[in-house]
Amino acid sequence: MNENVRIAVVGATGVVGREVLSALFDQGVPSEQLTALASERSEAVELEYGEDTLEVEKTTPESFRGVSLALLATPASASRTLAPVAQSAGAWVVDASSAFRGDGNVPLVLPSFNPEVLGATFKGRIVCVPSAVSTALVSIIAPLQKAFGVVRAQVTAMMGVSSAGVTGVNELEKQTAGLLSGREPEAHAFPQRIGFNLLPQVGPFLANSPWTEEEAGWTLEAARLFGARGETPVIAGTAVQVPSFYGHGLSVHVQLKQAAPVEQARAALKTSQALKVLDAPTEKIYPMPMLIAGDPTVHVGRLRTFPQAPEWLTLFAVVDNAGRGGALNLVEAGLRLLQRPA
Ligand SMILES: NC(=O)c1ccc[n+]([C@@H]2O[C@H](COP(=O)([O-])OP(=O)(O)OC[C@H]3O[C@@H](n4cnc5c(N)ncnc54)[C@H](OP(=O)(O)O)[C@@H]3O)[C@@H](O)[C@H]2O)c1
Repeated sequence: MNENVRIAVVGATGVVGREVLSALFDQGVPSEQLTALASERSEAVELEYGEDTLEVEKTTPESFRGVSLALLATPASASRTLAPVAQSAGAWVVDASSAFRGDGNVPLVLPSFNPEVLGATFKGRIVCVPSAVSTALVSIIAPLQKAFGVVRAQVTAMMGVSSAGVTGVNELEKQTAGLLSGREPEAHAFPQRIGFNLLPQVGPFLANSPWTEEEAGWTLEAARLFGARGETPVIAGTAVQVPSFYGHGLSVHVQLKQAAPVEQARAALKTSQALKVLDAPTEKIYPMPMLIAGDPTVHVGRLRTFPQAPEWLTLFAVVDNAGRGGALNLVEAGLRLLQRPA
């Protein structure tokens, strides 16, 4: 990477931000070319970067002066303000939040699916990446769509508490310890107690709608990503907050345009570099969150078809939400944008 390039990681202290630093380190980006930014709360916090230390700075408009690439791992409310500021300072901006996913003027990029967007002409210098669940779903559906056509996919996403960032992780830790000591905890980060519980709600509900923003996001993002290729499978389902820390599990039912035996479906999934097929259930081999940390692929297994409805394929998948589902998309998109002419 050109030594004049400067990269700002905004939200560097968060669940996704820390993974962004780890991915940049793996890409060989030297610490001198990085600025770690967060809110005022984390000013002067020290973050490890290989053998170096990065001191976190408070984010201000001046933070983006001379920055070539701003990777935003911030809440949507902060991204809405910071992305235009970074863009005005001349930086390429990649945002991990939901702030721009519904904005037709901001390209939605899943680097393993539509990398061509990053080299094409578009208005402005901001792009955004899909949610962790959409990343997994699009990765699974893409090879099935190519081989058989896909009508729709129904999903139950079992989302670890890190989907709610550091606050979510801290809350599950505290509630679990409290409950094991006989104390009934209060809920702060989640609408109800998450310790030893399951919540059929992840994030807020849309106004006047039975769907949560998370769930509606899957439909919207799939429509944007597949829609650009002409055929949009309908994706819908339920997001469930579960009391595990990292990794999201997805129970997925895919309606194919033509019936496919399991062997053919497995072969189609194996053609994708974005996926790893772990499917030997009698040998206890299947996707599990405990296997996913740090793995850039989405794990898929438990493939089944049902004789009475042979066009339906059922499977289970797991994605590393903070890594593959957040940080890696940010870093892969950002590094490609840096290759564009200024
Ligand atoms: N967690 C996931 O699985 C996941 C996956 C894909 C995408 N995302 C998206 O990625 C974003 C970050 O998620 P996360 O889970 O990493 O959240 P998080 O752990 O809560 O981290 C949020 C980060 O943003 C910083 N921040 C908050 N307000 C800020 C402001 N006004 N200015 C500058 N920095 C600010 C925080 O700094 P302080 O330390 O100072 O508070 C922290 O570093 C969210 O939009 C989320 O939807 C998350």
